[in-house]
Amino acid sequence: MNICMIGTGYVGLVTGACFAEIGNNVICVDNDARKISTLKKGRMPIYEPGLEEMVHKNVRQKRLSFSLSIADSIRDAHFAFIAVGTPPRSDGSADLSYVENVAREIAVHMKKYLIIVEKSTVPVETCEWVKRTILRYNKRKIPFDVVSNPEFLREGTAVKDFLQPDRIIIGAESEKAKSAMRDLYGPLKAPMVFTDPKSAEIIKHASNSFLATKISYINSVANICEKVGANVEQVAEGMGYDARIARSFLSAGCGFGGFCFPKDLEAFLWISKKLGVDFHILETVRRVNEDQKTHFVHKVEEALWIIQGKTVGVLGLAFKPNTDDMRFAPSIDIIRMLQERGAAVQAYDPISMANARKVLKGVKLKDSAYEAAKGADCLVIVTDWQEFAEMDLEKIKKCLNHPTVVDGRNLFDPARMKRLGFHYYSIGRPAV
Ligand code: UGA
Repeated sequence: MNICMIGTGYVGLVTGACFAEIGNNVICVDNDARKISTLKKGRMPIYEPGLEEMVHKNVRQKRLSFSLSIADSIRDAHFAFIAVGTPPRSDGSADLSYVENVAREIAVHMKKYLIIVEKSTVPVETCEWVKRTILRYNKRKIPFDVVSNPEFLREGTAVKDFLQPDRIIIGAESEKAKSAMRDLYGPLKAPMVFTDPKSAEIIKHASNSFLATKISYINSVANICEKVGANVEQVAEGMGYDARIARSFLSAGCGFGGFCFPKDLEAFLWISKKLGVDFHILETVRRVNEDQKTHFVHKVEEALWIIQGKTVGVLGLAFKPNTDDMRFAPSIDIIRMLQERGAAVQAYDPISMANARKVLKGVKLKDSAYEAAKGADCLVIVTDWQEFAEMDLEKIKKCLNHPTVVDGRNLFDPARMKRLGFHYYSIGRPAV
């Protein structure tokens, strides 16, 4: 099949490369000339494990190429995927102007029957608007279908998530489009759920919001555990054996971040309000997540008493491990709050240092976890990189002014930390 993938962000680039990997001819299009030229030179604009090798291989085998022009790239396409950004506006709603622009361009340049697939995360009824837009600008009345096919890949494991998905959601109206989508995804051998386009759109927002709800729920449970000296890890394990609940996304921490959960939560809330539905739970999920970051900074206060004039080493800046993405990362708010309280912050992240340089102000960026710990009064862990879990803790202890660790991701066993002589604070577990 010939695929035109419009948008080379996380979703577009990974999806385009993976479709090429399973045998399709893919042209990835973007209107950002720098991005396209970077990709043509074989360099990746994002860090994603396994992506670079896959892109190189498929470019070499001539199944994957990059272009600035939608007109040229959809000429022979069977599918045009819309994977452009839907950034949040100040009122929380999704800015759909990029989607609309692309829909117009597709309508003007399509040459034969085309399946237009909405891949970006969008509010319910966007497919309907895309369809209307194409009908309006498609003067030659070329037949087409619009399909909603939301993506569930996670940054850091995106390639694997695409190739081994839990499910594939296809929201389509016509049998022709359903059958073509079935063939396209056939090689993945994953369960396919066929719905109407609106239901498919809601599945995406409802899934992300539900996962965010699980995290805020366990973070609230963690706060109860802290009050009574219980252990949230054990609570989550006990709950997780119930197949109806499941252990995943029950890891308590210093809050969720990233470009998906916070944004999609806002967008789902916005559309609910617009439709006259009070989705109170999601407002609480958002508030709990904001409070969790403040609660974490209070832990640093508990450990240091006075933050003013202290040096704090921060480990982990990306919003989660195995990515360089710092968009809506909890580290940004946590560092800001530490600085507001008068701390000098020195920080380290294995991958996101270049992004950190752009986003963080007044932070000394260090070359290793040990450098970030050197001379600090307290070490704060914000992202659960494996590298931190494997640190030489004796060495860390020697680097620190005081052996105090405030762990926002529960990376270490409190009993071990006590044995090693640390003052150790974590989430939902007794401090030692
Ligand atoms: C999320 C969804 O998991 C994907 O299915 C979805 O496709 C994607 O959004 C999207 O809409 O594009 P992602 O944002 O890459 O993926 O990251 P997650 O692994 O879901 O983690 C999000 C945040 O939750 C991170 O800050 C992470 O540290 C936090 N988290 C996750 C917890 O605090 N506790 C947990 O138990 C799990």
